[in-house]
Amino acid sequence: MEHLISNKSVLLLLIVTTSLLVDARPATFLQDFRITWSDSHIRQLDGGRTIQLILDRNSGCGFASKSKYLFGRVSMKIKLIPGDSAGTVTAFYMNSDTDQVRDELDFEFLGNRTGQPYSVQTNVYAHGKGDREQRVNLWFDPAADYHTYSIMWNHHHVVFSVDQIPIRVYKNNEAKGVPFPKFQPMGVYSTLWEADDWATRGGLEKINWSKAPFYAYYKDFDIEGCPVPGPSTCASNPSNWWEGSRFQQLDPVAASRYQWVRANHMVYDYCTDKHRYPNTPPECVA
Ligand SMILES: *[C@@H]1O[C@H](CO)[C@@H](O)[C@H](O)[C@H]1NC(C)=O
Ligand SMILES: *[C@@H]1O[C@H](CO)[C@@H](O)[C@H](O)[C@H]1NC(C)=O
Repeated sequence: MEHLISNKSVLLLLIVTTSLLVDARPATFLQDFRITWSDSHIRQLDGGRTIQLILDRNSGCGFASKSKYLFGRVSMKIKLIPGDSAGTVTAFYMNSDTDQVRDELDFEFLGNRTGQPYSVQTNVYAHGKGDREQRVNLWFDPAADYHTYSIMWNHHHVVFSVDQIPIRVYKNNEAKGVPFPKFQPMGVYSTLWEADDWATRGGLEKINWSKAPFYAYYKDFDIEGCPVPGPSTCASNPSNWWEGSRFQQLDPVAASRYQWVRANHMVYDYCTDKHRYPNTPPECVA
C-alpha cells in the first residue's frame, strides 16, 4: 500500500522499533474489520482495499474494527454519495460500546440536495454525556474525490481533521470537572443509513428514493493505537508518538487553519446555542 513508500513509513519504523507494543501498520479491511450490518450491502473492491457501502430502500449497512483501541489516531479516505444525497447519513466514528458510560467520537456526513453543501457534524460523548454537536459545511465537494478524515486522541485532546485541517478540538478539561474519554477503549465504526427525519435542513428534505441505490466508498484504513486487549502498559506509555509534545496542542499552522474553519465554515456550535444551553457549558469557556 502507498503507506509503505511514504515518509510515514520512516516514522512507523521508528515507532515500531521504539515501542513494539503499539499497533502501527496500515489496517486492511479483511484483517482488521468485520461487517456489523447487512453483508449484502457491503462490497469489497480492488482486492478488499476499497469498500463500497450501499443504501437502498431495503437497508443501509455498517462495518466495525475487530479490536478496540485506547488512544492513537484513526484515519480513512472516504468518497461520499454524489448528486442528490439529501436525507442520507454516512458516519465514521469511535465508540466504547458501553451504554451507560459511553465514550464516542463522531463524524457524521449529512447529505444534501444536488449543489448544496454537505455538512459534517461532529459530536463527543464522554462518560455517557453527549449533546455536543458542531457542524461545518465542507469547502469542497466530498463526493468528487476521496478525502482523508481522521480522529487523533491522546491524554490532552481529541482532534477531528479533514485533509489534515482540524475542524474540531475537544480539550481535556478535567481540571474544570468536564469528563474526558480516557478509561475506555473504543472501536472504529462506519455506517451508511437513512435519516431523513433530521439530517438535511432539519428533516425538511427527504430522500429521493428514485436515485437509489446510494454508494459511499472507503479506502486507506489507517489505525495507529493501543489495541485492547493488548499490552496493558501501552496506553500510558509517554513515548507513543501521539503523546509527543508536537501533538499535545495544535501547532501554529494547524491552529490558524482551525481558526479559518471556525470563521468561515462553521454553521452550528452547541457552545453558542443559548436556546439549548442558557448557561455556556464549561468546556466552551476559553
Ligand atoms: C444543505 O443546504 C442548505 C442550503 O444551502 C444549508 O442551509 C444546509 O446547511 C445544508 N446542509 C444540511 C445538512 O442541511
Ligand atoms: C427525484 O428524482 C427524480 C429522478 O431523477 C426526479 O425526476 C425528481 O424530480 C426528484 N424529486 C425531487 C423531490 O427532487
